Amino acid sequence: MQIITDVQEMQARCLAAREAGKRIAFVPTMGYLHHGHRSLLDEGRKRGDLLVLSIFVNPTQFGQGEDFTSYPRDLTGDAALAEESGVDWIFAPEARDMYPPGYATYVDVAGFTDTLCGRSRPGHFRGVTTVVSKLFLIVQPHVALFGRKDFQQLAVIKRMTLDLNLPVEIVGMPIIREADGLAMSSRNVYLSPAQRAQALCLVDALRQAIGSARRGETSAAHLIAVARERIEREPEAQVDYIQICHQLTLEDQATVDRDSVMLLAVKVGNTRLIDNARLFEEA
Ligand code: PAJ
Repeated sequence: MQIITDVQEMQARCLAAREAGKRIAFVPTMGYLHHGHRSLLDEGRKRGDLLVLSIFVNPTQFGQGEDFTSYPRDLTGDAALAEESGVDWIFAPEARDMYPPGYATYVDVAGFTDTLCGRSRPGHFRGVTTVVSKLFLIVQPHVALFGRKDFQQLAVIKRMTLDLNLPVEIVGMPIIREADGLAMSSRNVYLSPAQRAQALCLVDALRQAIGSARRGETSAAHLIAVARERIEREPEAQVDYIQICHQLTLEDQATVDRDSVMLLAVKVGNTRLIDNARLFEEA
């Protein structure tokens, strides 16, 4: 396994690999890897001859007052997990090389980004789609893997790939959870033990909604109200949003159906957590 930091070198290597007939599988991340990332790497290993992992805490997707500077970083630990997962190349560029002085080009996906996390984090998805486009052009992947934990991000990236005719297959992967159900996230390290216990309210609320929907409750407003009540029982939990949307369009639904997904963003203390579940699949 090799760690490459130089943007031009990475692109030259990937173009050469493609020309040599290698199928490139790519997993973009911000590092501080956990088993959720690991599941993407394992699938990537199966789908490509060459497995590329990027580790880049992307400044353009963090808003003012968000956790860009405190975002956890551990390149040594990440390299060990990557090696175990059969990664060939880690691409770990510097921000000044990804966004040199004079940088002026951004990719924006309209509509999809006005709701959910896009509403609470203006500019966030513009940063995500910009960096993912750049990474695609540098790494030249045939296939790229993303987690459904970031459900809206996956939808936005699928839309961008389709709209810009990017020759990359986008694969969405299931949410990996801790034994007690909390969705794995690099940000979980911010939680105190008391907050960690309270953070289970997200998965609890989702599981409750799944149960009610399967017993025949069809009103999205009712399911959302029950979820809100469950979350607000926790002293440090504050709801950012709870929505029930169509899985493909991300439009709000009044009545649930086979395509419904419940999406949550909750602040537990100062840590913003997200989670989601299809109402008619396992949480
Ligand atoms: P990051 O939060 O590091 O996540 C990298 C990838 O891992 C994303 O596709 C995310 O959905 C997936 N992932 C995170 N937690 C997961 C879990 N518990 N189960 C399954 N997959 C999980 O998402 C980003 O980085 C960035 O926005 C990025 C796409 C790299 C652009 O900067």
